[in-house]
Amino acid sequence: MGATHHLSSGLTPAQLAQFNKDGYLILPDVLSPETVQSLLAETHRLLHEELDLSSHPLTKFSTGGADDREHVGDAYFLGSGDKIRFFLEEDAVDPEGRVTRPKERAVNKIGHYLHELSAPFKAVSATEQEEDEAGSRQTPAGIARSLGYRDPRVLQSMAILKQPEIGGAVPPHQDSCFLYTDPPSAVGFWYALEDATLENGCLSFLPGSHRWAPIEKRLVRRRAGVGDEQAGGTEMAANEGPRFPLGDEYGEDKKGEGKGEYVAGEVKAGTLVLIHGNLLHKSERNTSQKGRIIYTFHIIEQEGTAYDGKNWLQPPKEGFTKLYA
Ligand code: FE2
Repeated sequence: MGATHHLSSGLTPAQLAQFNKDGYLILPDVLSPETVQSLLAETHRLLHEELDLSSHPLTKFSTGGADDREHVGDAYFLGSGDKIRFFLEEDAVDPEGRVTRPKERAVNKIGHYLHELSAPFKAVSATEQEEDEAGSRQTPAGIARSLGYRDPRVLQSMAILKQPEIGGAVPPHQDSCFLYTDPPSAVGFWYALEDATLENGCLSFLPGSHRWAPIEKRLVRRRAGVGDEQAGGTEMAANEGPRFPLGDEYGEDKKGEGKGEYVAGEVKAGTLVLIHGNLLHKSERNTSQKGRIIYTFHIIEQEGTAYDGKNWLQPPKEGFTKLYA
């Protein structure tokens, strides 16, 4: 890369082509070591200063399937879109509901409004974020412009801790099932704050699946629009809207290119991984002694799309956070 050529904060043409082909893109060193340290320090501060397990509803979040619906669906989860809340590893809670380890080793996830309520996390996606002095680091706004977003909005920010020994697996899924717009428009920004390896449950991806894997089902609020909206929990329901973003490159007929194999994405701390909302991806259990802390948020297109009223996450009073100035 030339010293002065790539002052843009977006993707190079080659990177954009790679993302369009594979449905994900690994960008090393997007976060400086100092930024990584500040985000890890903030994660630990939140655990130590903001989490009181004695008053915690022992909410567990899992994308694991029907058996976990009741856990997913409670009000603590559904009300977290504009708050900082803590979700526990399933294996950190015994059948009687007691937490079996220190709180900093029990939390799976902190979410879902870090990008507004936590200054260090907010800085990652802040509007008109300044580039670093080298001018070479890519910003969410610059990347979103490269991807063609007109009015991207930031939502569902999370620190995911994937704890040593008990960090749960995440089965294959597509992020647009959780943040559905008509037509689908979600992209995930996923930042490694610690090295993610095969041993501690790094992501893996099914390359190209964003072009042929439809959004067939999606997570909806059971009682959307009916009285107490946080009482009914969530469930998976058939998607009756568009199953792909607009574009000739998408469609179930593209499956002829083959389903292929999942490819593991081992990455160093500071790496950004972009994940298309239709891309099938997953991660394995962390059975190692090393944690795997990451920060992720998503963007959706606000202009010309409809954000679905049955999505688990509904806009805060002030609306979803603008990414562009
Ligand atoms: Fe995901």
